[in-house]
Amino acid sequence: MDGDIAPLPDILEVAKMYDAWVIVDDAHATGVLGENGRGTAEHFRLKDDQLIQVGTFSKSLASLGGYVAGPEPVIEWLRNNSRSFIYSTALPPSICAGSIAAIEILESNHLIRRRLWKNIKRFRQGLINLGFDTMGGQAQIIPILTGDTNLTMEFAEALFEKGIYAPGIRPPTVPEGKSRIRVSLMASHTYEQIDRVLSVFQKVGRQLGII
Ligand SMILES: Cc1ncc(COP(=O)(O)O)c(C=O)c1O
Repeated sequence: MDGDIAPLPDILEVAKMYDAWVIVDDAHATGVLGENGRGTAEHFRLKDDQLIQVGTFSKSLASLGGYVAGPEPVIEWLRNNSRSFIYSTALPPSICAGSIAAIEILESNHLIRRRLWKNIKRFRQGLINLGFDTMGGQAQIIPILTGDTNLTMEFAEALFEKGIYAPGIRPPTVPEGKSRIRVSLMASHTYEQIDRVLSVFQKVGRQLGII
């Protein structure tokens, strides 16, 4: 929600003090963070037997389902015990094939991720230059803090009317007084589109007295 990155090395260090394992929900990092898009652990160059990574295929991979990456005994145990593998229909082959194809594209074409990061930097910096509060985030999720819930929903509606889908996020998803617009960009967005969105944000932000 804040576009921040969990301090995984510190978390793992604390876990080890208590002989605990760490499960990282990398839903928003898969395909985005790390040199090869492998997520938060790769971002911090971490590899550890007590680190399990879970992620979804429903975001950067534009598919459905998810994965668990971890030591073989853990994976074996999950295969034989997870509720979703017992008395439940498996994902259709077309969905699995789509996920595999998306992973292959991400692995073989690093330009996609580079383009995404260029877009993120351009948009975030543009918002900061306009005077919006992006909460100091570093990741691809870009929050635009608006505070008041009604104002946030009004902002989202005004954006939608101008052809921009940037949902308002309000309590209980975020704390009271921390409502925000949340933007996720795509690698395929062009600079022209990003600049147009920035100019709409400027116009609507001024109209609503946010900037
Ligand atoms: C952090 C996080 N984890 C897990 C999920 C669940 O992903 P899915 O909807 O593919 O089950 C989401 C989805 O929004 C998410 O944001």
